[in-house]
Amino acid sequence: MSDAIDIKKGLAGVYADTTKISKVMEETNSLTYRGYPVQELAALCKFEEVAYLIWHGELPMREQLMHFERQEREHRWIGDDLIEVMRKFRKTAHPMDTLRTAVSFLGVQDPETEDNSPKANLEKSIKMMARIPTIVAADYRLRNGKEPIKPDPKLGFAENFFHMCFGEVPAPEVVKCFDVSLTLYAEHSFNASTFTSRVIASTTSDIYSAVVGGIGALKGPLHGGANEAVMHMMLEVDDPKKAEAWLLGNIADKRLVMGFGHRVYKHGDSRVPTMKKAFLEMAKIKNGQKWVEMYEILERTMLAKKNIHPNLDFPTGPAYYLMGFDIPMFTPIFVMSRITGWTAHVMEQNEDNKLIRPLAAYDGSAQRKVLPVAER
Ligand code: SDX
Repeated sequence: MSDAIDIKKGLAGVYADTTKISKVMEETNSLTYRGYPVQELAALCKFEEVAYLIWHGELPMREQLMHFERQEREHRWIGDDLIEVMRKFRKTAHPMDTLRTAVSFLGVQDPETEDNSPKANLEKSIKMMARIPTIVAADYRLRNGKEPIKPDPKLGFAENFFHMCFGEVPAPEVVKCFDVSLTLYAEHSFNASTFTSRVIASTTSDIYSAVVGGIGALKGPLHGGANEAVMHMMLEVDDPKKAEAWLLGNIADKRLVMGFGHRVYKHGDSRVPTMKKAFLEMAKIKNGQKWVEMYEILERTMLAKKNIHPNLDFPTGPAYYLMGFDIPMFTPIFVMSRITGWTAHVMEQNEDNKLIRPLAAYDGSAQRKVLPVAER
């Protein structure tokens, strides 16, 4: 292969396009959505306002928010047909596979699927935001032998998810912690799953196909699947007193420690302080001291031994566990939020599209003659 070609494996450090949706600033360890710092959005807004901002580029005025909330709430139910299809799913299938298939079903059933106009794509995006929590909650109840609970249009986005999973809404501190996680998970520039969605959109395929691709990419433990892996890791360690020894063993065996490291943030993930604060607040009322201790020891040891900081998946893992969600639901919850970022990027790609098609530097066999099988 020619030495002159500069391969950027994993597209590390490569600027593939511009975006107006979010800005990831490694040098100042910060992140803004449409110019607003995420820590301020998490403190002052609920996820519905952040979703509106990501799609429209401005925070909603009161009237706009009320209209948007009505739109989202009226689209929450997924219909008896999809529930019947979900009853046929293998009970041990991963919830990300269930979710990917169910979203595909939404696309099959939507007569507007092929309409790539901005208006139609925004409507489909709101419908997916409204229906994905219902799919995740129904899947959770069906695989646990329970009947799905219908969405409640009187409840907000975060509250309604708890209602559909557990039949009740928890304390405000728990709902707030969940809502903060949704705001922080919503959007993060050209991460692997968002870029996957943009590649699919760049062929002028439909928005459901782009989202199904994004779900497939997010499932991976190097990406969104890490929040589940973090909790499996913490349960494996189980006793905070064993955490340091466990981690040192992992490091000695050169095994990845899930929930740590990041392709862009090399001095800490800008979202972690906000999520950690929400996790610690909630842990106080959910008897979560053991997981707080575990968190602190693992974070301290990874920093001391590898100088590697936690990413957003590290605090969300134990937070979702304390909220009572089954571990395989953690990455589907990530999807409930990232659907906003993915679809905003699909619509942005459509605005000024160019087919995404990078080059490969060939380093296989030199050219050679084909021989008929009788002569091989
Ligand atoms: C998300 O891109 C985004 O914005 C993603 C995301 C979003 O909001 O969309 O932020 C969400 O996906 C967060 C990341 C979740 N993934 C994990 O927690 C999995 C564990 N993390 C690693 O796999 C890793 O840190 C990556 C994949 C996240 C980033 O890896 P890079 O940029 O490819 O860095 P690298 O693998 O080249 O690591 C550099 C060095 C290596 O050591 P050497 O080979 O140079 O000796 O750091 C080591 C790595 O082995 N390293 C780790 C580590 N992360 C990096 N060692 C142990 N444990 C880790 N977690």
